[in-house]
Amino acid sequence: MADKQTFFDYITEGYNTKGEAIDLGAAMLDGETVTNALVRIPLKTMNRHGLIAGATGTGKTKTLQILAENLSEKGVPVLLMDMKGDLSGIAQPGSEHAKIDERHEMIGFPFKTQKFPVEILTISDQEGVRMRATVSEFGPILLSRILDLSDTQSGIVSVLFKYCDDNKLPLLDLKDFKKILQYATEEGKEAMQREYGRMSSASTGSILRKIVELEQQGGDLFFGEKSFDTDDLLRVDENGMGYINILRLTDIQDRPKLFSTFMLSLLAEIYATFPEQGDSDRPELVIFIDEAHLIFKQASDALLDQIEGIVKLIRSKGVGLYFVTQNPTDVPDAVLSQLGLKVQHALRAFTAKDRKAIKLTAENYPLSDYYKTDEVITSLGIGEALVSALNEKGIPTPLAATMLRAPMSRMDVLEDNELKELLEASKLIKKYNETIDRESAYEMLNKKIETAEQKDVKEKAKKERDAASKSSSSKSKKSSSSATTSTLMKTLMSPTVIRSVLGILGKMIK
Ligand SMILES: Nc1ncnc2c1ncn2[C@@H]1O[C@H](COP(=O)(O)OP(=O)(O)OP(=O)(O)O)[C@@H](O)[C@H]1O
Ligand SMILES: [Mg+2]
Repeated sequence: MADKQTFFDYITEGYNTKGEAIDLGAAMLDGETVTNALVRIPLKTMNRHGLIAGATGTGKTKTLQILAENLSEKGVPVLLMDMKGDLSGIAQPGSEHAKIDERHEMIGFPFKTQKFPVEILTISDQEGVRMRATVSEFGPILLSRILDLSDTQSGIVSVLFKYCDDNKLPLLDLKDFKKILQYATEEGKEAMQREYGRMSSASTGSILRKIVELEQQGGDLFFGEKSFDTDDLLRVDENGMGYINILRLTDIQDRPKLFSTFMLSLLAEIYATFPEQGDSDRPELVIFIDEAHLIFKQASDALLDQIEGIVKLIRSKGVGLYFVTQNPTDVPDAVLSQLGLKVQHALRAFTAKDRKAIKLTAENYPLSDYYKTDEVITSLGIGEALVSALNEKGIPTPLAATMLRAPMSRMDVLEDNELKELLEASKLIKKYNETIDRESAYEMLNKKIETAEQKDVKEKAKKERDAASKSSSSKSKKSSSSATTSTLMKTLMSPTVIRSVLGILGKMIK
Protein backbone atom coordinates (compact mmCIF):
# COMPACT_ATOMS: atom_id res chain seq x y z
CA MET A 1 0.00 0.00 0.00
CA ALA A 2 1.48 3.28 -1.09
CA ASP A 3 1.26 6.27 1.20
CA LYS A 4 -1.89 8.20 0.32
CA GLN A 5 -0.57 11.59 1.45
CA THR A 6 2.64 11.25 -0.60
CA PHE A 7 0.53 10.25 -3.59
CA PHE A 8 -1.80 13.21 -3.04
CA ASP A 9 1.18 15.60 -2.97
CA TYR A 10 2.74 13.94 -6.02
CA ILE A 11 -0.47 14.38 -8.05
CA THR A 12 -1.35 17.92 -6.93
CA GLU A 13 2.21 19.03 -7.55
CA GLY A 14 2.35 17.29 -10.94
CA TYR A 15 -0.97 18.76 -12.11
CA ASN A 16 -0.47 22.23 -10.67
CA THR A 17 -0.97 24.94 -13.31
CA LYS A 18 -0.40 28.67 -13.44
CA GLY A 19 -2.95 29.39 -16.11
CA GLU A 20 -6.46 28.06 -16.69
CA ALA A 21 -7.03 24.31 -16.67
CA ILE A 22 -9.79 21.77 -17.17
CA ASP A 23 -10.59 19.58 -14.18
CA LEU A 24 -11.00 16.04 -15.49
CA GLY A 25 -11.50 14.31 -12.15
CA ALA A 26 -9.46 12.98 -9.24
CA ALA A 27 -6.59 10.48 -9.20
CA MET A 28 -7.11 6.96 -7.86
CA LEU A 29 -4.74 4.85 -5.82
CA ASP A 30 -5.20 1.11 -5.29
CA GLY A 31 -8.64 1.38 -6.86
CA GLU A 32 -9.81 4.16 -4.55
CA THR A 33 -10.46 7.78 -5.46
CA VAL A 34 -8.21 10.22 -3.60
CA THR A 35 -10.53 13.19 -3.02
CA ASN A 36 -9.19 16.51 -4.29
CA ALA A 37 -6.10 14.97 -5.91
CA LEU A 38 -7.29 16.73 -9.06
CA VAL A 39 -6.14 15.73 -12.52
CA ARG A 40 -6.16 18.95 -14.50
CA ILE A 41 -5.34 19.59 -18.16
CA PRO A 42 -3.74 23.00 -18.79
CA LEU A 43 -5.66 24.98 -21.42
CA LYS A 44 -2.32 26.09 -22.80
CA THR A 45 -1.43 22.56 -23.94
CA MET A 46 -4.80 21.70 -25.49
CA ASN A 47 -3.38 22.42 -28.96
CA ARG A 48 -0.92 19.57 -28.46
CA HIS A 49 -3.40 16.93 -29.65
CA GLY A 50 -4.59 13.84 -27.87
CA LEU A 51 -6.03 10.35 -27.85
CA ILE A 52 -9.00 8.89 -26.01
CA ALA A 53 -8.95 5.10 -26.26
CA GLY A 54 -10.66 2.13 -24.61
CA ALA A 55 -12.96 -0.85 -25.11
CA THR A 56 -16.57 -0.33 -26.10
CA GLY A 57 -18.80 1.15 -23.41
CA THR A 58 -15.97 2.25 -21.13
CA GLY A 59 -16.72 5.98 -21.40
CA LYS A 60 -14.69 7.37 -24.32
CA THR A 61 -17.48 9.45 -25.79
CA LYS A 62 -18.39 10.82 -22.36
CA THR A 63 -14.76 11.86 -21.86
CA LEU A 64 -14.97 13.69 -25.19
CA GLN A 65 -18.17 15.35 -23.96
CA ILE A 66 -16.49 16.43 -20.70
CA LEU A 67 -13.54 17.99 -22.52
CA ALA A 68 -15.79 19.72 -25.06
CA GLU A 69 -18.07 21.19 -22.38
CA ASN A 70 -15.24 22.51 -20.29
CA LEU A 71 -13.52 24.06 -23.28
CA SER A 72 -16.79 25.74 -24.24
CA GLU A 73 -17.23 27.03 -20.70
CA LYS A 74 -13.80 28.66 -20.98
CA GLY A 75 -14.74 30.29 -24.26
CA VAL A 76 -12.92 27.86 -26.57
CA PRO A 77 -14.98 26.73 -29.58
CA VAL A 78 -15.07 23.05 -30.40
CA LEU A 79 -15.83 20.86 -33.41
CA LEU A 80 -17.09 17.32 -32.78
CA MET A 81 -17.18 14.61 -35.43
CA ASP A 82 -20.25 12.72 -34.25
CA MET A 83 -20.14 9.30 -35.92
CA LYS A 84 -22.85 7.64 -33.88
CA GLY A 85 -25.14 10.60 -33.44
CA ASP A 86 -24.89 10.38 -29.65
CA LEU A 87 -23.66 13.91 -28.88
CA SER A 88 -26.54 16.26 -29.62
CA GLY A 89 -27.61 16.16 -25.94
CA ILE A 90 -24.87 18.68 -25.18
CA ALA A 91 -27.44 21.34 -26.11
CA GLN A 92 -29.54 20.39 -23.05
CA PRO A 93 -28.63 20.23 -19.36
CA GLY A 94 -27.98 16.77 -17.89
CA SER A 95 -30.08 15.29 -15.11
CA GLU A 96 -29.29 14.77 -11.46
CA HIS A 97 -28.55 11.24 -10.31
CA ALA A 98 -27.51 9.88 -6.91
CA LYS A 99 -24.68 7.88 -8.56
CA ILE A 100 -23.30 11.01 -10.20
CA ASP A 101 -23.45 12.99 -6.95
CA GLU A 102 -21.57 10.17 -5.28
CA ARG A 103 -18.94 10.23 -8.03
CA HIS A 104 -18.43 13.95 -7.59
CA GLU A 105 -18.29 13.68 -3.81
CA MET A 106 -15.39 11.27 -4.21
CA ILE A 107 -13.68 13.59 -6.69
CA GLY A 108 -14.04 16.69 -4.55
CA PHE A 109 -16.29 19.18 -6.32
CA PRO A 110 -20.07 19.25 -6.67
CA PHE A 111 -21.91 18.15 -9.79
CA LYS A 112 -23.81 20.80 -11.70
CA THR A 113 -25.98 20.55 -14.77
CA GLN A 114 -25.67 22.92 -17.67
CA LYS A 115 -26.43 23.20 -21.40
CA PHE A 116 -24.04 24.53 -24.03
CA PRO A 117 -24.39 26.50 -27.26
CA VAL A 118 -24.57 23.97 -30.09
CA GLU A 119 -24.57 24.23 -33.87
CA ILE A 120 -25.43 21.12 -35.90
CA LEU A 121 -23.46 20.66 -39.12
CA THR A 122 -23.65 18.14 -41.95
CA ILE A 123 -21.74 17.12 -45.08
CA SER A 124 -24.58 15.06 -46.49
CA ASP A 125 -28.27 15.74 -46.92
CA GLN A 126 -29.05 15.36 -43.22
CA GLU A 127 -30.42 18.38 -41.40
CA GLY A 128 -27.92 20.96 -40.22
CA VAL A 129 -25.57 23.58 -41.60
CA ARG A 130 -24.22 22.33 -44.93
CA MET A 131 -20.42 22.30 -45.03
CA ARG A 132 -19.23 22.44 -48.61
CA ALA A 133 -16.10 23.28 -50.57
CA THR A 134 -15.65 24.01 -54.26
CA VAL A 135 -13.41 21.87 -56.47
CA SER A 136 -11.32 24.99 -57.21
CA GLU A 137 -10.69 25.54 -53.51
CA PHE A 138 -9.71 21.94 -53.20
CA GLY A 139 -7.00 22.40 -55.79
CA PRO A 140 -5.34 19.83 -58.08
CA ILE A 141 -2.91 18.43 -55.52
CA LEU A 142 -5.42 17.62 -52.82
CA LEU A 143 -7.91 16.30 -55.35
CA SER A 144 -5.27 13.96 -56.81
CA ARG A 145 -4.24 12.76 -53.36
CA ILE A 146 -7.79 12.04 -52.39
CA LEU A 147 -8.49 10.16 -55.59
CA ASP A 148 -5.21 8.31 -55.13
CA LEU A 149 -4.07 9.13 -58.66
CA SER A 150 -0.78 8.13 -60.29
CA ASP A 151 1.77 10.80 -61.23
CA THR A 152 0.60 10.83 -64.85
CA GLN A 153 -3.03 11.15 -63.80
CA SER A 154 -2.19 13.89 -61.29
CA GLY A 155 -0.40 15.71 -64.11
CA ILE A 156 -3.57 15.64 -66.17
CA VAL A 157 -5.61 16.98 -63.24
CA SER A 158 -3.14 19.85 -62.90
CA VAL A 159 -3.40 20.63 -66.61
CA LEU A 160 -7.20 20.65 -66.40
CA PHE A 161 -7.12 23.05 -63.45
CA LYS A 162 -4.68 25.24 -65.37
CA TYR A 163 -6.88 25.15 -68.45
CA CYS A 164 -9.91 26.20 -66.41
CA ASP A 165 -7.86 28.92 -64.80
CA ASP A 166 -6.57 30.19 -68.14
CA ASN A 167 -10.04 30.13 -69.62
CA LYS A 168 -11.88 31.47 -66.57
CA LEU A 169 -14.02 28.42 -66.13
CA PRO A 170 -15.04 28.12 -62.47
CA LEU A 171 -14.76 24.56 -61.13
CA LEU A 172 -17.39 24.40 -58.43
CA ASP A 173 -18.68 20.86 -58.17
CA LEU A 174 -17.76 17.40 -59.43
CA LYS A 175 -20.14 17.85 -62.34
CA ASP A 176 -17.88 20.68 -63.54
CA PHE A 177 -14.79 18.57 -63.22
CA LYS A 178 -16.32 15.62 -65.03
CA LYS A 179 -17.39 17.94 -67.82
CA ILE A 180 -13.92 19.36 -68.34
CA LEU A 181 -12.51 15.85 -68.27
CA GLN A 182 -14.97 14.80 -70.94
CA TYR A 183 -14.30 17.96 -72.93
CA ALA A 184 -10.58 17.25 -72.85
CA THR A 185 -11.12 13.86 -74.45
CA GLU A 186 -13.79 14.87 -76.95
CA GLU A 187 -14.61 18.30 -78.31
CA GLY A 188 -11.59 20.07 -76.88
CA LYS A 189 -9.12 17.27 -77.41
CA GLU A 190 -7.11 18.66 -80.29
CA ALA A 191 -6.97 22.20 -78.99
CA MET A 192 -5.88 21.08 -75.55
CA GLN A 193 -3.25 18.74 -76.84
CA ARG A 194 -1.81 21.47 -78.99
CA GLU A 195 -1.38 23.67 -75.95
CA TYR A 196 -0.75 21.27 -73.08
CA GLY A 197 0.46 18.02 -74.63
CA ARG A 198 -1.10 14.60 -75.09
CA MET A 199 -3.50 13.08 -72.57
CA SER A 200 -4.08 9.38 -72.89
CA SER A 201 -7.71 8.36 -72.83
CA ALA A 202 -6.77 5.48 -70.52
CA SER A 203 -5.62 8.02 -67.93
CA THR A 204 -8.62 10.31 -68.27
CA GLY A 205 -10.83 7.22 -68.09
CA SER A 206 -9.24 6.16 -64.79
CA ILE A 207 -9.64 9.63 -63.33
CA LEU A 208 -13.28 9.65 -64.32
CA ARG A 209 -13.88 6.26 -62.68
CA LYS A 210 -12.36 7.51 -59.42
CA ILE A 211 -14.49 10.64 -59.49
CA VAL A 212 -17.58 8.53 -60.00
CA GLU A 213 -16.56 6.42 -57.00
CA LEU A 214 -16.25 9.54 -54.86
CA GLU A 215 -19.62 10.73 -56.13
CA GLN A 216 -21.20 7.44 -55.20
CA GLN A 217 -19.97 7.98 -51.66
CA GLY A 218 -21.81 11.29 -51.60
CA GLY A 219 -18.99 13.56 -52.74
CA ASP A 220 -21.41 15.38 -55.01
CA LEU A 221 -23.13 16.68 -51.89
CA PHE A 222 -19.94 17.92 -50.37
CA PHE A 223 -18.47 19.71 -53.39
CA GLY A 224 -20.10 22.93 -54.46
CA GLU A 225 -21.35 26.22 -53.14
CA LYS A 226 -21.79 27.98 -50.86
CA SER A 227 -18.41 27.05 -49.52
CA PHE A 228 -18.04 26.96 -45.76
CA ASP A 229 -16.02 29.68 -44.07
CA THR A 230 -13.94 28.00 -41.34
CA ASP A 231 -14.12 31.19 -39.25
CA ASP A 232 -17.72 30.20 -38.56
CA LEU A 233 -16.35 27.38 -36.40
CA LEU A 234 -14.88 29.95 -34.04
CA ARG A 235 -18.04 31.53 -32.72
CA VAL A 236 -18.54 32.41 -29.06
CA ASP A 237 -22.06 33.06 -27.74
CA GLU A 238 -23.32 36.14 -25.88
CA ASN A 239 -22.28 34.60 -22.53
CA GLY A 240 -18.71 34.08 -23.67
CA MET A 241 -19.14 30.31 -24.16
CA GLY A 242 -17.47 28.70 -27.14
CA TYR A 243 -19.84 27.11 -29.65
CA ILE A 244 -19.81 23.32 -29.77
CA ASN A 245 -20.18 22.52 -33.45
CA ILE A 246 -21.45 19.00 -33.90
CA LEU A 247 -20.93 17.48 -37.32
CA ARG A 248 -23.40 14.62 -37.69
CA LEU A 249 -21.74 11.83 -39.58
CA THR A 250 -24.01 8.91 -38.79
CA ASP A 251 -24.50 8.16 -42.46
CA ILE A 252 -20.83 8.29 -43.30
CA GLN A 253 -19.60 5.12 -41.56
CA ASP A 254 -19.64 3.07 -44.73
CA ARG A 255 -18.09 5.85 -46.81
CA PRO A 256 -14.56 6.23 -45.45
CA LYS A 257 -13.26 7.90 -48.58
CA LEU A 258 -15.72 10.74 -48.34
CA PHE A 259 -14.93 11.18 -44.68
CA SER A 260 -11.16 11.27 -45.09
CA THR A 261 -11.58 13.60 -48.07
CA PHE A 262 -13.63 15.93 -45.97
CA MET A 263 -11.31 15.78 -42.95
CA LEU A 264 -8.23 16.47 -44.98
CA SER A 265 -9.78 19.36 -46.87
CA LEU A 266 -11.08 20.87 -43.65
CA LEU A 267 -7.71 20.64 -41.95
CA ALA A 268 -5.94 22.01 -45.01
CA GLU A 269 -8.38 24.92 -45.15
CA ILE A 270 -7.95 25.66 -41.45
CA TYR A 271 -4.20 25.48 -41.82
CA ALA A 272 -4.27 27.84 -44.78
CA THR A 273 -6.60 30.42 -43.24
CA PHE A 274 -5.85 30.56 -39.50
CA PRO A 275 -3.07 32.89 -38.36
CA GLU A 276 0.03 31.60 -36.56
CA GLN A 277 -0.57 31.63 -32.81
CA GLY A 278 2.91 31.66 -31.32
CA ASP A 279 3.00 30.93 -27.60
CA SER A 280 -0.69 31.28 -26.79
CA ASP A 281 -2.25 30.43 -23.42
CA ARG A 282 -5.34 28.83 -24.97
CA PRO A 283 -6.30 26.97 -28.14
CA GLU A 284 -8.30 28.66 -30.90
CA LEU A 285 -10.30 25.56 -31.78
CA VAL A 286 -10.32 21.97 -30.59
CA ILE A 287 -11.48 19.19 -32.90
CA PHE A 288 -12.58 15.79 -31.61
CA ILE A 289 -12.89 12.87 -33.98
CA ASP A 290 -14.99 10.07 -32.49
CA GLU A 291 -14.51 6.62 -34.03
CA ALA A 292 -11.30 7.96 -35.54
CA HIS A 293 -10.25 4.64 -37.05
CA LEU A 294 -12.65 5.57 -39.86
CA ILE A 295 -10.37 8.27 -41.25
CA PHE A 296 -7.36 6.02 -41.22
CA LYS A 297 -9.20 2.95 -42.50
CA GLN A 298 -8.73 2.54 -46.26
CA ALA A 299 -6.77 5.78 -46.50
CA SER A 300 -4.05 5.57 -49.14
CA ASP A 301 -0.40 6.09 -48.22
CA ALA A 302 -0.42 9.48 -49.92
CA LEU A 303 -3.42 10.52 -47.89
CA LEU A 304 -1.90 9.25 -44.65
CA ASP A 305 1.25 11.23 -45.36
CA GLN A 306 -0.84 14.31 -45.89
CA ILE A 307 -2.79 13.78 -42.66
CA GLU A 308 0.39 13.20 -40.66
CA GLY A 309 1.91 16.37 -42.08
CA ILE A 310 -1.13 18.47 -41.28
CA VAL A 311 -1.40 17.09 -37.73
CA LYS A 312 2.15 18.25 -37.14
CA LEU A 313 1.64 21.71 -38.61
CA ILE A 314 -1.81 22.67 -37.44
CA ARG A 315 -0.73 22.88 -33.80
CA SER A 316 0.99 26.19 -34.50
CA LYS A 317 -2.37 27.60 -35.58
CA GLY A 318 -3.76 26.89 -32.12
CA VAL A 319 -5.83 23.91 -33.26
CA GLY A 320 -5.87 20.74 -31.16
CA LEU A 321 -6.94 17.40 -32.65
CA TYR A 322 -8.28 14.63 -30.44
CA PHE A 323 -8.71 11.12 -31.76
CA VAL A 324 -11.23 8.86 -30.05
CA THR A 325 -10.99 5.18 -30.88
CA GLN A 326 -11.13 1.73 -29.29
CA ASN A 327 -7.56 0.71 -29.85
CA PRO A 328 -4.56 3.05 -29.95
CA THR A 329 -3.16 0.91 -32.77
CA ASP A 330 -6.02 2.26 -34.94
CA VAL A 331 -3.99 5.48 -35.17
CA PRO A 332 -0.75 5.50 -37.22
CA ASP A 333 2.48 5.66 -35.19
CA ALA A 334 3.53 8.93 -36.79
CA VAL A 335 0.35 10.53 -35.47
CA LEU A 336 0.45 8.75 -32.09
CA SER A 337 3.93 10.08 -31.40
CA GLN A 338 2.61 13.65 -31.64
CA LEU A 339 -0.11 13.37 -29.03
CA GLY A 340 0.21 15.31 -25.79
CA LEU A 341 -2.86 14.10 -23.89
CA LYS A 342 -3.60 10.42 -23.53
CA VAL A 343 -6.74 9.15 -21.87
CA GLN A 344 -6.81 5.37 -21.77
CA HIS A 345 -10.05 3.77 -20.66
CA ALA A 346 -10.26 0.09 -19.77
CA LEU A 347 -9.18 -2.57 -22.22
CA ARG A 348 -10.45 -6.13 -21.89
CA ALA A 349 -8.13 -9.12 -22.05
CA PHE A 350 -10.09 -11.92 -23.68
CA THR A 351 -7.46 -13.39 -25.98
CA ALA A 352 -3.68 -13.69 -26.22
CA LYS A 353 -3.82 -10.98 -28.87
CA ASP A 354 -5.67 -8.69 -26.45
CA ARG A 355 -3.04 -9.28 -23.77
CA LYS A 356 -0.29 -8.39 -26.21
CA ALA A 357 -2.09 -5.19 -27.22
CA ILE A 358 -2.51 -4.24 -23.57
CA LYS A 359 1.19 -4.77 -22.88
CA LEU A 360 2.06 -2.61 -25.89
CA THR A 361 -0.37 0.11 -24.84
CA ALA A 362 1.00 0.11 -21.29
CA GLU A 363 4.54 0.55 -22.59
CA ASN A 364 3.49 3.78 -24.26
CA TYR A 365 2.68 5.42 -20.94
CA PRO A 366 5.16 7.08 -18.57
CA LEU A 367 6.54 4.82 -15.84
CA SER A 368 4.95 5.18 -12.41
CA ASP A 369 5.91 4.07 -8.91
CA TYR A 370 2.25 3.84 -8.07
CA TYR A 371 0.83 1.65 -10.81
CA LYS A 372 1.40 -1.55 -12.71
CA THR A 373 0.09 0.05 -15.86
CA ASP A 374 -1.06 -3.11 -17.69
CA GLU A 375 -2.95 -4.28 -14.61
CA VAL A 376 -4.60 -0.90 -14.10
CA ILE A 377 -5.74 -0.77 -17.74
CA THR A 378 -7.71 -4.00 -17.35
CA SER A 379 -9.21 -3.10 -13.98
CA LEU A 380 -10.52 0.42 -14.69
CA GLY A 381 -14.28 0.87 -14.27
CA ILE A 382 -16.65 2.78 -16.57
CA GLY A 383 -15.90 6.51 -16.51
CA GLU A 384 -12.39 5.88 -15.18
CA ALA A 385 -9.20 6.19 -17.22
CA LEU A 386 -5.44 6.38 -17.12
CA VAL A 387 -4.40 9.92 -17.90
CA SER A 388 -1.09 11.36 -19.03
CA ALA A 389 -1.00 14.99 -20.15
CA LEU A 390 1.55 17.70 -20.78
CA ASN A 391 2.15 20.36 -18.18
CA GLU A 392 2.51 24.01 -19.16
CA LYS A 393 6.21 23.47 -19.78
CA GLY A 394 5.42 20.66 -22.19
CA ILE A 395 6.68 17.91 -19.85
CA PRO A 396 4.51 14.80 -19.30
CA THR A 397 2.47 14.92 -16.09
CA PRO A 398 2.45 12.00 -13.63
CA LEU A 399 0.47 9.01 -14.83
CA ALA A 400 -2.88 9.08 -13.04
CA ALA A 401 -5.67 6.52 -12.91
CA THR A 402 -8.54 8.98 -12.82
CA MET A 403 -12.12 8.93 -11.58
CA LEU A 404 -13.61 11.18 -14.27
CA ARG A 405 -16.22 13.81 -13.60
CA ALA A 406 -19.65 13.42 -15.24
CA PRO A 407 -20.77 15.52 -18.20
CA MET A 408 -22.81 18.58 -17.21
CA SER A 409 -25.03 18.29 -20.25
CA ARG A 410 -27.36 15.46 -21.19
CA MET A 411 -25.71 12.06 -21.70
CA ASP A 412 -28.22 11.25 -24.43
CA VAL A 413 -29.52 12.66 -27.69
CA LEU A 414 -31.97 15.51 -28.24
CA GLU A 415 -35.66 14.76 -28.67
CA ASP A 416 -36.99 15.44 -32.17
CA ASN A 417 -38.71 18.67 -31.11
CA GLU A 418 -35.58 19.90 -29.32
CA LEU A 419 -33.51 19.28 -32.42
CA LYS A 420 -36.08 21.04 -34.57
CA GLU A 421 -36.00 24.07 -32.32
CA LEU A 422 -32.22 24.17 -32.39
CA LEU A 423 -32.12 23.98 -36.19
CA GLU A 424 -34.76 26.67 -36.56
CA ALA A 425 -32.78 29.06 -34.40
CA SER A 426 -29.55 28.55 -36.37
CA LYS A 427 -28.17 31.61 -38.14
CA LEU A 428 -25.65 29.53 -40.07
CA ILE A 429 -28.35 27.36 -41.64
CA LYS A 430 -29.83 30.51 -43.10
CA LYS A 431 -26.41 31.49 -44.36
CA TYR A 432 -25.37 28.21 -45.98
CA ASN A 433 -28.37 26.11 -46.85
CA GLU A 434 -29.81 27.66 -49.99
CA THR A 435 -28.57 25.66 -52.94
CA ILE A 436 -26.68 27.74 -55.43
CA ASP A 437 -25.97 26.33 -58.86
CA ARG A 438 -24.55 29.32 -60.62
CA GLU A 439 -23.00 29.15 -64.03
CA SER A 440 -19.77 27.22 -63.84
CA ALA A 441 -17.57 25.06 -66.06
CA TYR A 442 -20.33 22.55 -66.72
CA GLU A 443 -22.85 25.03 -68.08
CA MET A 444 -20.23 27.15 -69.80
CA LEU A 445 -18.62 24.30 -71.66
CA ASN A 446 -22.00 22.93 -72.67
CA LYS A 447 -22.94 26.34 -74.04
CA LYS A 448 -19.69 26.62 -75.94
CA ILE A 449 -20.07 23.23 -77.48
CA GLU A 450 -23.63 24.04 -78.47
CA THR A 451 -22.71 27.39 -79.99
CA ALA A 452 -19.86 25.81 -81.87
CA GLU A 453 -22.13 23.10 -83.21
CA GLN A 454 -24.75 25.63 -84.30
CA LYS A 455 -22.11 27.69 -86.02
CA ASP A 456 -20.79 24.57 -87.62
CA VAL A 457 -24.24 23.58 -88.87
CA LYS A 458 -24.78 27.11 -90.25
CA GLU A 459 -21.39 27.14 -91.93
CA LYS A 460 -21.98 23.74 -93.39
CA ALA A 461 -25.37 24.80 -94.75
CA LYS A 462 -23.78 27.93 -96.19
CA LYS A 463 -21.05 25.90 -97.81
CA GLU A 464 -23.63 23.56 -99.29
CA ARG A 465 -25.59 26.53 -100.65
CA ASP A 466 -22.41 27.96 -102.09
CA ALA A 467 -21.48 24.63 -103.56
CA ALA A 468 -24.90 24.26 -105.11
CA SER A 469 -24.81 27.73 -106.64
CA LYS A 470 -21.33 27.13 -107.97
CA SER A 471 -22.24 23.68 -109.26
CA SER A 472 -19.50 23.91 -111.76
CA SER A 473 -16.82 24.03 -109.05
CA SER A 474 -15.63 20.55 -108.14
CA LYS A 475 -13.09 21.42 -105.45
CA SER A 476 -14.29 20.29 -102.03
CA LYS A 477 -13.55 22.20 -98.88
CA LYS A 478 -11.72 21.13 -95.75
CA SER A 479 -13.19 18.37 -93.57
CA SER A 480 -15.84 19.54 -91.15
CA SER A 481 -14.27 18.09 -88.04
CA SER A 482 -11.31 20.42 -88.03
CA ALA A 483 -13.65 23.28 -88.86
CA THR A 484 -15.62 22.42 -85.70
CA THR A 485 -12.53 22.54 -83.60
CA SER A 486 -11.29 25.82 -84.87
CA THR A 487 -14.72 27.40 -84.46
CA LEU A 488 -14.94 26.01 -80.97
CA MET A 489 -11.55 27.35 -80.04
CA LYS A 490 -12.51 30.73 -81.40
CA THR A 491 -15.65 30.73 -79.29
CA LEU A 492 -13.72 29.61 -76.27
CA MET A 493 -11.16 32.32 -76.68
CA SER A 494 -13.59 35.03 -77.66
CA PRO A 495 -13.25 38.13 -75.48
CA THR A 496 -16.98 38.20 -74.69
CA VAL A 497 -16.97 34.72 -73.21
CA ILE A 498 -13.88 35.44 -71.17
CA ARG A 499 -15.15 38.78 -69.96
CA SER A 500 -18.51 37.44 -68.85
CA VAL A 501 -16.80 34.74 -66.85
CA LEU A 502 -14.32 37.15 -65.36
CA GLY A 503 -17.07 38.86 -63.42
CA ILE A 504 -18.17 35.64 -61.77
CA LEU A 505 -14.63 34.61 -61.08
CA GLY A 506 -13.82 37.96 -59.56
CA LYS A 507 -16.61 37.49 -57.03
CA MET A 508 -15.46 33.98 -56.31
CA ILE A 509 -11.91 34.94 -55.61
CA LYS A 510 -13.12 37.92 -53.51
N1 LIG B 1 -17.59 10.21 -16.83
C1 LIG B 1 -18.72 9.51 -16.69
N2 LIG B 1 -19.58 9.82 -15.71
C2 LIG B 1 -20.73 9.13 -15.55
N3 LIG B 1 -21.11 8.10 -16.36
C3 LIG B 1 -20.29 7.74 -17.35
C4 LIG B 1 -19.06 8.43 -17.57
N4 LIG B 1 -18.44 7.86 -18.62
C5 LIG B 1 -19.25 6.88 -19.04
N5 LIG B 1 -20.37 6.78 -18.30
C6 LIG B 1 -21.46 5.82 -18.50
O1 LIG B 1 -21.03 4.81 -19.42
C7 LIG B 1 -21.85 4.76 -20.59
C8 LIG B 1 -21.01 4.47 -21.82
O2 LIG B 1 -20.13 5.54 -22.08
P1 LIG B 1 -19.69 5.97 -23.55
O3 LIG B 1 -20.85 6.03 -24.46
O4 LIG B 1 -18.88 7.18 -23.39
O5 LIG B 1 -18.78 4.73 -23.95
P2 LIG B 1 -17.84 4.55 -25.24
O6 LIG B 1 -16.53 4.11 -24.74
O7 LIG B 1 -17.88 5.75 -26.08
O8 LIG B 1 -18.53 3.34 -25.96
P3 LIG B 1 -18.54 2.95 -27.54
O9 LIG B 1 -17.21 2.36 -27.86
O10 LIG B 1 -19.63 1.95 -27.60
O11 LIG B 1 -18.83 4.21 -28.29
C9 LIG B 1 -22.52 6.12 -20.60
O12 LIG B 1 -23.78 6.07 -21.24
C10 LIG B 1 -22.65 6.48 -19.13
O13 LIG B 1 -23.80 5.93 -18.57
MG1 LIG C 1 -18.49 6.13 -28.05
